[in-house]
Amino acid sequence: MRISVFGCGYLGAVHAACMTKLGHDVVGVDVVEDHVAALARGEAPFFEPGLEDLLVEGVGTGRLEFTTDPQRAADATVHFVCVGTPQKRGEKAADLRYIWSATENLLPLLKPGDVVVGKSTVPVGTAEELAERVAAVQPEAEVVWNPEFLREGFAVQDTLHPDRFVYGLGDAESGRRAAATLDEVYAEALAAGTPKIETDLATAQLVKVAANSFLATKISFINAMAELCEATGADVTALADAIGHDSRIGRKFLNAGVGFGGGCLPKDIRAFMARAGELGVDQALSFLREVDSINLRRRVRMVDLAREVCGGSIVGRRIAVLGAAFKPNSDDIRDSPALNVAAQMQLQGAQVTVTDPKAIDNASKAWPDLAFEATVEDAVRDADAVLLLTEWPEYVALDPVDLATHVTGPRIIDGRNALDPVVWRSAGWTYRALGRP
Ligand code: UDX
Repeated sequence: MRISVFGCGYLGAVHAACMTKLGHDVVGVDVVEDHVAALARGEAPFFEPGLEDLLVEGVGTGRLEFTTDPQRAADATVHFVCVGTPQKRGEKAADLRYIWSATENLLPLLKPGDVVVGKSTVPVGTAEELAERVAAVQPEAEVVWNPEFLREGFAVQDTLHPDRFVYGLGDAESGRRAAATLDEVYAEALAAGTPKIETDLATAQLVKVAANSFLATKISFINAMAELCEATGADVTALADAIGHDSRIGRKFLNAGVGFGGGCLPKDIRAFMARAGELGVDQALSFLREVDSINLRRRVRMVDLAREVCGGSIVGRRIAVLGAAFKPNSDDIRDSPALNVAAQMQLQGAQVTVTDPKAIDNASKAWPDLAFEATVEDAVRDADAVLLLTEWPEYVALDPVDLATHVTGPRIIDGRNALDPVVWRSAGWTYRALGRP
C-alpha cells in the first residue's frame, strides 16, 4: 500500500521505517529539515536500537522516502498522523498545535476512500474534531484512531510485533471499510494472531492515556511503598518481588527508584487530568495528582540522600551522575529524572559531572551548566559520591573494586535499585538506595 506518515519524530520515524519493512511504499513528512535530510540518508536523528538498519534498508529499496513537501503524500491511501503532543508551557494540558498543522497540510490531499489514522496521544475529543474537519473537505475519507503503545528502546520490536491493535472507528459502514484498509496495512501481524480491539473513537483515545496512567500509577505505588520502607527499615525490592508473584499484580513496572520520566508518562497523566477537568470529571483522576507528586518527591529524596552520604552538605562536593537519558537504551532526555536530580544538586552548590553512553549530546545542549564526561572513569574521578540514575547495562555491570580506585569517597547511591548491595559493600563502598536499608 502507499502510506504517508505525518510527523517523523520518535513515533513517526519508527512507524515509517517499520511500515516499509512490512512491504509498503512509505513517504514520511516532517517540517524539521535537518531531521528529514538525515532520515533520507538513512540516518536516525535519535538513538533507537534497530532503527538505523531499517532506515538504510528501506531507503535503499526506494520504497521509503522522507520529505518536507506534503504534496509527496498525495498518492497515499493511508495517512498516519504521528506528530508530538507535548505539554503546553505553564499548563497541564496537551499542546495540539502539531496535530492541527499536520491536518492543514493533509486535508487538501485527501481523496475518496483515503483513511486518516491517528496514532499520536491526544485528549479525548480530538479524533472527533479531526473527523469533522476531514468530513468537511472530503466526506468519503475516514478517520480511524489507532493508538501506538511503543516503548522507546524497543520501538522497532513493539511496532513490528505489537501486543494488540486498537481501532477506534467512526460511523458503522465507512468505519468498517476503513478498518478493512487498516487490516491490509497490518496484515502480517494480524495473520500472526495479534489481538485486535475495534471500538469507537472516544474509547480508542482513552485506551492510550488509561494505559499510561495505569503504568505511572504502578510505578508511583511502589515508590510510595519505598517511602514506607525507608521509614521502617524494610526493603522495597523484596516487597516488589513478593507482591509481584501474585499474577493479579505482576512484577513488571514495580521497580522502585527515582521514578518515571520521558516524553510520555509525565505529560500524558497531566494532560489526562486537564481533559478530565474540562469534561467535569476531574475527581475521577484526582489520584493522578498524587501519582505525579509521589514521582517528583523521589527526585527530591535522591538529592537528600546525596546530602546525607556527603555528611550533611553537598556544597562544593564533587558528585558523579551515571545516566542522563530518562531510561536505558535511549538518548531521550525529556523530563529525565537523572538530569533533574543532577541540576538540583548543581543549583544547591555541588560540582556535578554527568555521563551517559548515548545522551550526552542532547543533555549538554539542554543543560549547558552541568559538566559532562564521555566515560565513567572521567566522570567519577575524585568524586565524593556517585549516583546511579539511569540503569544502563554497562553501569549495572561496573566493577566496584575498580571503580573505587577512581573516586575520593567510595559512596554510591543506587537510584534504580539495580546494583547488588552486598557486592558493593564488600568492595568497601557506602551503598544507599531508595526504599532499601
Ligand atoms: C511509555 C509506555 O510504556 C508506552 O507504552 C507508551 O506508548 C509511551 O510511554 P516509554 O516512555 O518509552 O513508554 O518508557 P517506559 O518503559 O514506559 O518507562 C517510563 C519511565 O518509567 C522511565 O523513566 C522508566 O525508568 C520508569 N520506570 C519504568 C520505573 O521507574 N520503574 C519501572 O518499574 C518501570
